[in-house]
Amino acid sequence: MSKATALTLSAVSKRYDSGLQALGEIDLSLQPGEFVSIVGPSGCGKSTLLRIIAGLMAPSGGSYQRPQGIETAFVFQDAALLPWRTILDNAQLLMELEGYPRSEYQARARTALQRVGLAGFESAYPHQLSGGMRMRLSLARALALQPQLLLLDEPLAAVDELTRDVLQEELSQLWQAAGFTAVLVTHNVHEAVYLSNRVVVMSPRPGRILDVIDVPFAFPRAPELRAEAGFAELTGRVSAALRAIPQVSSPT
Ligand SMILES: Nc1ncnc2c1ncn2[C@@H]1O[C@H](COP(=O)(O)OP(=O)(O)OP(=O)(O)O)[C@@H](O)[C@H]1O
Ligand SMILES: [Mg+2]
Repeated sequence: MSKATALTLSAVSKRYDSGLQALGEIDLSLQPGEFVSIVGPSGCGKSTLLRIIAGLMAPSGGSYQRPQGIETAFVFQDAALLPWRTILDNAQLLMELEGYPRSEYQARARTALQRVGLAGFESAYPHQLSGGMRMRLSLARALALQPQLLLLDEPLAAVDELTRDVLQEELSQLWQAAGFTAVLVTHNVHEAVYLSNRVVVMSPRPGRILDVIDVPFAFPRAPELRAEAGFAELTGRVSAALRAIPQVSSPT
């Protein structure tokens, strides 16, 4: 395999310094170019797992094999934009921090803004954008890095349903065009199935993998797929796996 080789977590666990065990033992391998979604109850360690995959935090147990030097970008739930910077300046922020030459980061930022449909807004400021546009900008900022690995932590949670559907299609198209490996944390089962090759279902804390569901539909996926019986069957399976999670053990 090329530079974009698989990422492999073997019995990865995480105990925070506070003593809290956030993750149990996680075994997961991510193939280059794959789109994997992670669903699970609040507090089960999804963001923790994403930070470990990003290389932002070391696991406290097990091993994580990650190819050296793969460009990684992270999209956070809140768009995390700098209000005093223009749209273009926000889009190029990560490249500036990484020390890219100005000529390169400006050209890349402009291209990324075009890809997410924000051409023409380069000199506007974040407060002049809608929530969906801010999310697009956050995505452009990550895409401008031309990442091989893109990590998304509930990026669409704050937008309305119609915008969400549109952004899902755009994200899917961008992923198909650029070929990066994507890991998406979401609470939305439909979103997970629509976008992914595989959906990982996690247990409550300490998070473990309960189930991995393959999504066989070919890409590009038409929006109408969401109305098909096969789609409903798969979202039903993911929902059932989530519902099967024991809540509080009751004495019998
Ligand atoms: N820096 C930290 N120090 C100590 N504990 C932490 C830290 N970050 C997260 N935790 C704890 O680890 C557990 C898992 O947190 P995490 O943010 O990974 O969950 P999550 O699955 O992303 O939840 P949500 O769906 O609500 O975003 C939680 O109990 C949280 O309180
Ligand atoms: Mg989280």
